[in-house]
Amino acid sequence: VRIGVLISGGGSNLQALIDNVENGYINGEIVMVISDKKGVYGIERARKHGINAVEIDKKEFEDRNAFMKAIINELERHKVELVVLAGFLSILSQDVIERYRNRIMNTHPSLIPAFCGKGYYGYRVHKAVLEYGAKVSGATVHFVDEGTDTGPIILQEAVKVEDDDTPETLAARILSVEHKLLPQAVKLYCEGKLMVEGRKVVIKTMN
Ligand code: GRF
Repeated sequence: VRIGVLISGGGSNLQALIDNVENGYINGEIVMVISDKKGVYGIERARKHGINAVEIDKKEFEDRNAFMKAIINELERHKVELVVLAGFLSILSQDVIERYRNRIMNTHPSLIPAFCGKGYYGYRVHKAVLEYGAKVSGATVHFVDEGTDTGPIILQEAVKVEDDDTPETLAARILSVEHKLLPQAVKLYCEGKLMVEGRKVVIKTMN
């Protein structure tokens, strides 16, 4: 499966995908990486591994449609079959979601539907968990639909919130779970084991 990864920052989730393709865990190929911001470390990670990486800086586009068209062009140029949002902070437009229905995966550092949506980017999600006094948070990998963090859930794993947690310590523990969960979801996709039935994702266990 030809995989395209979209990032906006450090790209530690991208690195987890690269490592798991290279060690054979994921039966797929990362054919390109797009960053919507210039000069992020994730681009360097890709280039270090010989992966085609392109910066499509959304600030350089007069409107969102032009920005989205540029992204679609790149995805189609590289014949991407599965799009993975790994720390990608732009909202995808309707036509991208249509074209890649149930072929766009996102990782979100909370147990959706808790603490998800527009207001929960970056550390804000972990600050909100701590302020709320939640005892458990976690990581979610889901397919992307029209909403923000609302698509069919593929995998989730809970992470206990400790009394002395700060947004940083909680973020770090959840991030290490994402580094396992996202490659697992991509692996299942590449093996054709993910069946989307309405809102639910059924994982085929039998071959
Ligand atoms: C991750 O928790 C991701 O879910 C969120 O940003 C964090 C950093 O991602 N969107 P990465 O290190 O850039 O992959």
